[in-house]
Amino acid sequence: MDNPTALITGASRGLGLALAAGLAREGFDLIIDARDPAALDAAAGALRAAGRPAARRPGGTVTAIPGDVTDPAHRAALLAAAGAAGRLDLLVNNAGTLGVSPLPALADYPPDELRAAFEVNVIAPIALTQLALPLLRAGGGAVLNITSDAAEQAYAGWGGYGAAKAALEQASNVLAAEELAVRVWWADPGDLRTDMHQLAFPGEDISDRPEPDSVVPAFVRLVTERLPSGRYRAAHLLPAAP
Ligand SMILES: NC(=O)c1ccc[n+]([C@@H]2O[C@H](COP(=O)([O-])OP(=O)(O)OC[C@H]3O[C@@H](n4cnc5c(N)ncnc54)[C@H](OP(=O)(O)O)[C@@H]3O)[C@@H](O)[C@H]2O)c1
Repeated sequence: MDNPTALITGASRGLGLALAAGLAREGFDLIIDARDPAALDAAAGALRAAGRPAARRPGGTVTAIPGDVTDPAHRAALLAAAGAAGRLDLLVNNAGTLGVSPLPALADYPPDELRAAFEVNVIAPIALTQLALPLLRAGGGAVLNITSDAAEQAYAGWGGYGAAKAALEQASNVLAAEELAVRVWWADPGDLRTDMHQLAFPGEDISDRPEPDSVVPAFVRLVTERLPSGRYRAAHLLPAAP
């Protein structure tokens, strides 16, 4: 109960795992999820092994709950874990889907696939936030929604994913206006070398993209400095390169 608690969705790999490690180093207890139980378990083990010695504060528990963020029962289980912890200081809605790969033009986007992408990228984070708000309000907590430059820019092929991320951005914007006791950040991490990014560029060499770890200091800054609610780009929160 002494450590702050963060709930991070999609933390078995990629940006979510990097953020979880960064928050563990800041002394957060973690609640994490992903659909693949084995990958989640491996991630939780690595976080437990790495987080403790480096944590500024002792403790640092990792609660791993496998499941799909589109499943209401799974979302309830995540919040039950936060309830058992007695507090929730940060909700990171990071789990997301690119949708169809290779990315189709909107003219060809199957509506059922579009609906599925919106379920993961828009409905699930809003629904999870609804469940989390009582604990977040009680402790002056924060919501961090991971979005994308595709929410703003018109890249051919990115209409499904981009429209969903744009919807998440506007939901965040309204939430920030409504929930004055809670910080609401929505942030574009920039291009990162992850499985999702590879799916967006199938067969291409993406080794020039930065590793997810590289943007963690930007998100840690949001949290530790409790910056005002709003839209952020990770690149703008990082110290300027020498
Ligand atoms: N990589 C980039 O260049 C980039 C750029 C801008 C924004 N973003 C955003 O950053 C976030 C993380 O992306 P990433 O690149 O790190 O992706 P990633 O490497 O594919 O990792 C996605 C994580 O989310 C989990 N996940 C996916 N669908 C889920 C679901 N329905 N329920 C629960 N967990 C789920 C995955 O595990 P399972 O598959 O086992 O569920 C995995 O742990 C996303 O919101 C993405 O849109 C990424």
